[in-house]
Amino acid sequence: MRGRRTLHALAVALILSGCVVWTSLAPRFQPAPPAAAGVHDLEAGRALYVRYCAVCHGQTGRGDGTSAAGFATKPADLTDGRLMNALPDEFLVGIVLRGGAAEGLSPAMPPFSGFLGAAQARQVILHVRAIASPPFRPEMAPPLVTAPRAPRQPIFFSHVIHAGSFQLACQYCHADARRSEYAGLPSVERCMGCHKIIGAQDNPEIAKLHDFARRGRPIPWVRVFKVPEFTFFPHAPHVRFPVACQTCHGPIERMRVVAADTGPALLHDLKILAGFRPPPRVLTMGWCIACHREQNATRAARAPLDCVTCHH
Ligand code: HEC
Ligand code: HEC
Ligand code: HEC
Ligand code: HEC
Ligand code: HEC
Ligand code: HEC
Repeated sequence: MRGRRTLHALAVALILSGCVVWTSLAPRFQPAPPAAAGVHDLEAGRALYVRYCAVCHGQTGRGDGTSAAGFATKPADLTDGRLMNALPDEFLVGIVLRGGAAEGLSPAMPPFSGFLGAAQARQVILHVRAIASPPFRPEMAPPLVTAPRAPRQPIFFSHVIHAGSFQLACQYCHADARRSEYAGLPSVERCMGCHKIIGAQDNPEIAKLHDFARRGRPIPWVRVFKVPEFTFFPHAPHVRFPVACQTCHGPIERMRVVAADTGPALLHDLKILAGFRPPPRVLTMGWCIACHREQNATRAARAPLDCVTCHH
């Protein structure tokens, strides 16, 4: 009895401490904006911007500062709300403090941690938000999502930039998802369709891409989502039904690195021991079946519950 109560306390403590997998992820804690995010901070941010950023990004933020012409990758147009508004504060603050390279962008965007504190970086971003057109609203930029066990990929490819900021459609790159068992990954040629020019001269991550293209080698991406060989999972019927990619994979467009919490699950097991009924873990059989039951009941789907359809 005592053991069980201790386990319960431990599980509750773990849950409260925020070790929550992304399936049940509430927006993660973000540092609060400066206490009175009002006129004072905005003015301070504008002054810092003029002092540190305008030389490259221009007085108005359009990317046309006096030094801009010298860069192969041009300083970003920070007023372009279509590209900027979806990027979360912590992502932009990170770029300001740690430089473009920290997100795979061109190192021509230098790190400012030697000049600005975190609070000041946030003030600058407050100014950047204020010059966006169309105007920025906080709900446009939900926070980043971090799943555990992020693999180290051969190229720092960012879904936050491609799918979040530039809003490329998932199936533009994962083009087989509608018609086959596999979703598929884009070929090197497909990447090069854009990157023959974009980032070609000064971005080391894109230099790696050019290297694979030159050697005629596929990029050895590390696989993240995988069911065992004896299980049949076809994408096409799910995508056509439709079930959104994010229902199963999480908000990929907000992941700096795609990852999933699918391995052995101490926390999950503790929750069950403590009397909770957590939803089944992603990629387990219980996860497939729970959704099939639910979709059959609520959306008149004909999702299989018999063994042979999933195991043959
Ligand atoms: C020496 C020139 C230079 C200075 C100074 C500079 N930047 Fe940049 N910045 C760049 C370049 C070049 C890029 C484009 C990087 C890319 O797209 O790969 C960039 C990109 C960015 C981005 C990414 C935008 C996006 O679309 O993801 C942000 C945000 C940014 N800068 C903010 C700032 C802020 C704020 C300051 C001042 C604190 C600043 N920059 C100072 C050159 C500069
Ligand atoms: C439709 C055009 C397009 C395609 C296709 C594309 N990209 Fe990009 N990519 C972009 C743009 C635009 C940027 C932003 C460039 C910048 O601001 O420096 C970018 C940025 C990048 C960057 C730097 C930022 C980051 O993501 O870390 C890398 C690396 C990159 N792409 C790799 C790839 C790879 C690998 C592929 C193929 C799997 C690919 N891209 C396919 C348009 C594309
Ligand atoms: C510009 C091309 C591009 C776009 C657009 C894109 N992806 Fe990807 N995706 C990739 C590449 C390259 C990888 C392999 C590297 C990685 O895991 O980040 C990948 C990996 C993934 C994976 C992990 C595959 C595995 O190993 O299990 C998932 C899931 C995924 N993408 C879903 C999405 C979703 C959902 C969207 C739309 C919101 C999307 N992708 C948009 C190129 C793209
Ligand atoms: C019903 C859940 C579900 C939906 C919806 C779904 N996926 Fe998947 N996805 C999976 C599972 C399960 C795997 C592992 C499959 C395996 O190991 O054969 C996977 C694997 C992948 C992979 C890596 C292997 C491959 O198939 O190429 C990519 C990339 C991917 N999904 C992208 C997407 C994209 C993009 C969408 C939306 C167009 C999507 N998925 C929709 C469940 C889903
Ligand atoms: C988020 C919900 C969801 C999840 C998770 C899910 N499925 Fe499904 N699945 C569906 C729906 C909806 C259909 C039925 C589509 C229809 O009626 O046409 C379906 C259909 C199928 C089919 C039948 C395909 C056909 O051709 O009739 C198979 C096989 C299948 N799922 C396997 C799996 C496996 C294996 C997993 C777990 C790895 C899984 N599904 C996870 C929603 C889901
Ligand atoms: C909707 C698809 C689906 C159906 C229906 C289904 N399974 Fe599974 N099954 C899976 C998946 C996915 C896995 C892999 C789970 C994992 O790796 O944790 C699995 C794993 C298993 C395993 C391996 C045990 C383990 O824990 O790894 C056995 C045995 C099994 N299934 C038997 C059955 C039997 C018997 C039935 C019919 C009563 C059945 N399955 C119905 C999807 C399904």
